[in-house]
Amino acid sequence: MMRLGVLASGSGSNLQAILDACAHRSIPAQVAVVISNVAGARALSRAEEAGVPALLLPHGAHPSRDAYDTEMVSLLRSHRVDLVCLAGFMRLLTPVLLSAFQNRILNIHPSLLPAWPGMHAVRHALKGGARVSGCTVHIVDEGTDTGPIVIQAAVPVLDGDTEESLAARILAQEHRIYPRAIALFAQGRVEIDGRRVRIKGAAADAARTFSSPELND
Ligand code: GRF
Repeated sequence: MMRLGVLASGSGSNLQAILDACAHRSIPAQVAVVISNVAGARALSRAEEAGVPALLLPHGAHPSRDAYDTEMVSLLRSHRVDLVCLAGFMRLLTPVLLSAFQNRILNIHPSLLPAWPGMHAVRHALKGGARVSGCTVHIVDEGTDTGPIVIQAAVPVLDGDTEESLAARILAQEHRIYPRAIALFAQGRVEIDGRRVRIKGAAADAARTFSSPELND
């Protein structure tokens, strides 16, 4: 069973989707540890409620980003983590962490990358007048939201949308695709070829393509 380390700074709704998918055995994985840089983050109490070790690693207490990530690597290793899942973890990773878990760190981002990497992706989609946005699970590399794309879900932008309403519609799709992407890793079906990801198995294309119900007339 693949052991997951989930890093989260905030509410942890994606963490919850992952915990639920593991509990319902829809993915052959278990959350081995949850680590947050924010004291009191809802993500930590969600982990505790699920009986998963919940650790606080505050960033203020370390002299450098490298020192912080060195400590993170040792915590992840001590919990025998195979795959690291960033779920609203609001810190950039250094090569210390990236090289320790090369091609084994996933992130979820609220846009159809490569459009709108970085902060405020939902705001940028609205301001840019996009009619479709969505979310992406990708492998983390040294850039910001630039790594190979595993799964995406498309979400329509509706005429009356605000940043909040669009973000909520996207978040609902994040909760669907993040557990699916983890399942593909846990099943050993992910093949990385440069910037492209290939999914082994007959239903591969169907498993990678989603659209929200509003798009299906
Ligand atoms: C999500 O919007 C995700 O796309 C972004 O951070 C947010 C995390 O939300 N990376 P939650 O903490 O999982 O509720």
